[in-house]
Amino acid sequence: MTNESKCILAPSCAFSGDTEKCHDRCPAFIQMHSASGRHTLAGLPSEYALIDLATAPPRKDQPAVYKFVDAYVATFERQFDDKPAIKSAYLYSDEPGTGKTTTAAGLINAWLRAHYVGAARLGRQPLRKPAEFFDLNEYQTAYNLAAMAGDAVKLQALTKRLNEAARVPFLVLDDVGIRSASEAFRGFVHAVINARLAAGRPTVYTSNIEMGDLADVYDARLADRIRDNCQDLPFIGKSKRGLRRK
Ligand SMILES: Nc1ncnc2c1ncn2[C@@H]1O[C@H](COP(=O)(O)OP(=O)(O)OP(=O)(O)O)[C@@H](O)[C@H]1O
Ligand SMILES: [Mg+2]
Repeated sequence: MTNESKCILAPSCAFSGDTEKCHDRCPAFIQMHSASGRHTLAGLPSEYALIDLATAPPRKDQPAVYKFVDAYVATFERQFDDKPAIKSAYLYSDEPGTGKTTTAAGLINAWLRAHYVGAARLGRQPLRKPAEFFDLNEYQTAYNLAAMAGDAVKLQALTKRLNEAARVPFLVLDDVGIRSASEAFRGFVHAVINARLAAGRPTVYTSNIEMGDLADVYDARLADRIRDNCQDLPFIGKSKRGLRRK
């Protein structure tokens, strides 16, 4: 059985489609997709796990976004430079279901691919965690539950996750416009974004709130930080959720 459809390296692999050479025991597949593989550790939700930007459903409906996305992905090669200066991006639409998270997932996969291929070219060991998908809704719920239960062990694990999110070379902060942000939660988001900006690490945000209105959810300082070297990418049209299943 071929791995073409389940290995995110397939688009840049000479063996994809070759049933002799594309299989589950392929070392590259294992490094990406085993339980401790780079793609697995990136933590993409299963419904977005194998999104490839070339074939992503939103591509045809969001031509302006994908024009930038294609140029953006080309800059991922610079991740091994001393000063890569890779931009951040803000994927926005007021309307839900326009393809923001799908596109952000595709960007993670593109980053992982560029990382794996680039490391191999340079004769380096790829990082254990080159990219991460961070769902802020899910995180805030987990944090609130642990705080309410006074669960010190869970809170410690959640703090560790935050520290990792601050350090990972490429991060997706999914749903940064979360409206129910508590004081403590806002502080966490600040810390992660500030640390990433200070280190020049790119972040992809998805949001249902315009970049200019973020000050209403967080504060002017965080809204300002997010705007730093960041491409605003408005998604157009109505929700496409459920369209593929019809
Ligand atoms: N242009 C499109 N054509 C077809 N299907 C699409 C398109 N955009 C998104 N979808 C599908 O709609 C569903 C929702 O997409 P996604 O989760 O990326 O939206 P979103 O913009 O992140 O929504 P939300 O604002 O609710 O977080 C997915 O199943 C996705 O494949
Ligand atoms: Mg989303």
